[in-house]
Amino acid sequence: MWVCSAPSNIALIKYMGKQEGNIPSNVSLSYTLNKFSSEVSLEVWENEDVFINKMNLAEESVRRFLGHLNHIKNVTNCRKFFRIRSQNNFPHSVGIASSASSFAALTICSFRAMCSLENIPLPSPEEMSRISRNASGSSCRSFFSPWSLWDGENAMMANIEIFELRHNLLLLNKTPKAIASSEAHKRVRSSLLFSGRADRARARLNKLIPALNNNWREAYQLCWEEFWDMHALFETSSPAFGYFLPETIAVLQEVRRFWQNYQDGPLATVDAGCNVHLLWREDQEKSQKCLITKLRPMIESLI
Ligand code: DP6
Repeated sequence: MWVCSAPSNIALIKYMGKQEGNIPSNVSLSYTLNKFSSEVSLEVWENEDVFINKMNLAEESVRRFLGHLNHIKNVTNCRKFFRIRSQNNFPHSVGIASSASSFAALTICSFRAMCSLENIPLPSPEEMSRISRNASGSSCRSFFSPWSLWDGENAMMANIEIFELRHNLLLLNKTPKAIASSEAHKRVRSSLLFSGRADRARARLNKLIPALNNNWREAYQLCWEEFWDMHALFETSSPAFGYFLPETIAVLQEVRRFWQNYQDGPLATVDAGCNVHLLWREDQEKSQKCLITKLRPMIESLI
């Protein structure tokens, strides 16, 4: 039996909009969330692939999962069948990219199993990342830590000095989101704001990398503009859609107030969901406690 796990990641410059093969319309940058991971196990099975669906994944998700397994069988020329298990240590469809960690874990586990069965060398992380991208775009960033940069076909480790960040996920609602990110990628192309999006993301990335190293306030401002840019695309698509709840806005206002009062605070970002992610430097423990105490009554839970 082969058991492998892979982390999730949170994008500060967002992947939104794509072409065939999950080639992104714009560059993205993510921080790898090692505390949120997926574990996949594979064992050789009799005469068909069997997926043990403990998480009650929708049929479409199971089909995607088995499709990716088959793709890697073709790449490795493996003719065996497998029994597959997959589990996350966090709730799925709540704005943590569960597809990122689960497809990265499936890719790694499939290659480990099939390369050892076929006696062929294991591909490099870069190669596995490219193959994982085909199944779910954001999974290609989960192969690199702590920072991952994804441009076109390739993801790679980003050269950013700041290493250990404290992360909070403010869970406001656990209900699965109504519009899956795969649908969001399609719809945003109808927004008038979509033209210019790739240039805006690139310009922000170019400022964000140095800012993360030496200008935390500017980094906060750039991350703030970036997630609003993505959510503005959603709200101006046709048909329009959105993920924010009143609680999302209330939490974000509190974060902004905190920055105004203390001239310091966390980076904040919101993915395709209603929940808010905060990232803090290691020396900000006191500030983190202070803001979290203020936010606690407004949130369902803190992870
Ligand atoms: C909003 O990777 O879930 O989280 O390629 O269709 O699987 P597919 O999309 P997915 O998109 C995630 C988009 C995002 C932003 C990001 O993670 O960069």
